[in-house]
Amino acid sequence: MTDFYNQILENNKKWVETTLESDPNYFKDLAKGQTPPLLWIGCSDSRVPANEIIGAKAGEVFVHRNIANMVVHTDMNMLSVLDYAVNVLKVKHVLVCGHYGCGGIKAAMGNDSIGIIDNWIRHIKNVYRLHSKYLDSIHDETSRFNKFVEINVQEQVIDLAKTSIVQNAWRNGQILTLHGWVYGLNSGYVTDLDVNMSSNDDLDDTYKLKFSI
Ligand code: CO
Repeated sequence: MTDFYNQILENNKKWVETTLESDPNYFKDLAKGQTPPLLWIGCSDSRVPANEIIGAKAGEVFVHRNIANMVVHTDMNMLSVLDYAVNVLKVKHVLVCGHYGCGGIKAAMGNDSIGIIDNWIRHIKNVYRLHSKYLDSIHDETSRFNKFVEINVQEQVIDLAKTSIVQNAWRNGQILTLHGWVYGLNSGYVTDLDVNMSSNDDLDDTYKLKFSI
């Protein structure tokens, strides 16, 4: 066993002990259930830990993470998390949090084959193609990379709004706001992109769903 592996087991024991010292009922209370107000959709990147960044306690954030914080509407994992969060947990906010320096976004801007992940990266490439005219006009590579990170987050927010899950919740009068943020690895600060959506009014007509029941 590696030192690191043994260390994390040890860390867990210490964490339980110190947590119980300050609150003997901590785990008993958490075991009763969860009512998180927020669903976080973030990148798998190890440097972007959802709870830590926003100072949230256990029980406050429902989390879904994948490479480049994508909302792929055929992804059963994402759909299941979204459906459970919206329809069972009744979260009030769904937040897509991208981050500058994202490896997935960087890969989508290049043409190197990395492996099976190429097929996931294609979803990100589709976003680039949608905005290629604008993105290609940015000559500074870092600026183009940063802008693409932001545009990708905005597109994922719109992709959330396109889902039948979110549109159905809005149709039923459920209070649900979608947000887009970008986290700065260098600073620790998030930037609110101000791309909030709380109804399908701003959605392209092509995607607006009419519910008959
Ligand atoms: Co990333």
